[in-house]
Amino acid sequence: MRVVSVLALFLTAVAAKSLPADIVRCSRSDPNLNRCLDVHVMEAVRKFAGGNKDLGISQLEPLLIDKIQLGDPDTLQQEYNNVQLYGITSATILNSRANFSDENCHWDYESVTPSTRMEADYKVKGRLLLFHIDGQGKCNNTLYDIQGQNSFKCEKFKKKNKTHIRITDHVFKFKPKRVVLDYDNIIAGNKQLSEEVRKTLNENSLAIYSDFGPALEKVMASVWMQNVNRVFSRVPEDELFLP
Ligand SMILES: *[C@@H]1O[C@H](CO)[C@@H](O)[C@H](O)[C@H]1NC(C)=O
Ligand SMILES: *[C@@H]1O[C@H](CO)[C@@H](O)[C@H](O)[C@H]1NC(C)=O
Ligand SMILES: *[C@@H]1O[C@H](CO)[C@@H](O)[C@H](O)[C@H]1NC(C)=O
Repeated sequence: MRVVSVLALFLTAVAAKSLPADIVRCSRSDPNLNRCLDVHVMEAVRKFAGGNKDLGISQLEPLLIDKIQLGDPDTLQQEYNNVQLYGITSATILNSRANFSDENCHWDYESVTPSTRMEADYKVKGRLLLFHIDGQGKCNNTLYDIQGQNSFKCEKFKKKNKTHIRITDHVFKFKPKRVVLDYDNIIAGNKQLSEEVRKTLNENSLAIYSDFGPALEKVMASVWMQNVNRVFSRVPEDELFLP
């Protein structure tokens, strides 16, 4: 029994994988490839919301990020640990411009996400607007109506005589229309002042977010690229696409 299961593990580690049967695959030569990607890729992503060990996809709802750090010592230092991002799989994508040919491998698209919520343990230290802040606790920030721009570059490589795609670069930019910030205990031990800071933060939330946004964009782009590349390294190109 044990020998058999070890062997089975070994075989699954070696064999190339296919996508689950309920995932709609697009045809590379379809003149409407772009439209097919727009319609079906997020549908597939939602099916993987809980993660997929076999394909190397981490849990996506919520997406877990260990740490995000930003800021410079002269102004405001922010550290977020145990970040949980909710809502990224509710995105829709549009305006795909893709070509997965060997010479010209790329995929650009826009995305729209109704809302994404970020819960984390935070530490913030420094000056913010009129306040001197040195707080830590839980935060629960929500971004609404997020417009995103994605740009992937890719290349091909051979593995066990099969062609695979590898993402070599992913730029992900996004902009929320509205941001609601909720940091508990931001002025340690002073509930009333904490509440006042919270109000002021939210009156200026888009400006405050503009400092944080680029760091989140970078982390998200890298998490996304890692997940896609884990799938691509397991699933050969001719299993990702119909001819
Ligand atoms: C994709 O790129 C290749 C190589 O540059 C080109 O021959 C082909 O026509 C392109 N396909 C589409 C659908 O644009
Ligand atoms: C964060 O806020 C949302 C609503 O904005 C709420 O549903 C959720 O329970 C909050 N999470 C925590 C941990 O407080
Ligand atoms: C690699 O694949 C090609 C085409 O599919 C085939 O002709 C060739 O025999 C394969 N080589 C090996 C070592 O399996």
